[in-house]
Amino acid sequence: MVRTMIYPGTFDPLTNGHLDIVRRAVRLCDRLIVAVLVNSAKQTAFSAAERKAMIQTVLQDLRTVEVVHFDGLLVDLYRREGACAVVRGLRSESDFRFEAEMAAANKLLLPSYETCLLPCRIDLAFTSSSIVREVASYGGDISGMVPSALIEKICERFAARNSQQRPEG
Ligand code: PNS
Repeated sequence: MVRTMIYPGTFDPLTNGHLDIVRRAVRLCDRLIVAVLVNSAKQTAFSAAERKAMIQTVLQDLRTVEVVHFDGLLVDLYRREGACAVVRGLRSESDFRFEAEMAAANKLLLPSYETCLLPCRIDLAFTSSSIVREVASYGGDISGMVPSALIEKICERFAARNSQQRPEG
């Protein structure tokens, strides 16, 4: 039986913390689906297609990883893919509260749903997509926070945004 796990998220953008979880999760299953949330209600710096492409660039050497978009409920994707667990990274107590609520809600919706929480590496405990966006928006150094293949794309996006926002004259 193929053991499929799903790693869902917004990944706006993928960070070194996410990458660490992917690398550890591939060892726990036969097939890992990295599922990028398409959420039209949430403003993201990168479109779903861009986020997916960026992840594919970074993960291209991992043969058992697939990157997909998903919209709607995570349990529907879980059922469709015949998954045995969802994997999520845990950085802090505040993460735990959110993850526990999400796990409980999903378990109510689908009794076979399981969650596998992986504590993050201590040196990545304060790395998040929102911190990356914040630092990049001020032109700061994000090289310790994201895979090197993504640095240029992220910096370009925020440089373009800043020049659009700059008042004329
Ligand atoms: O990286 P994020 O933004 O913390 O990921 C959150 C995500 C995408 C895992 C979560 O928002 C999600 O699963 N959304 C899909 C909608 C859903 O199933 N909601 C019910 C779970 S409480």
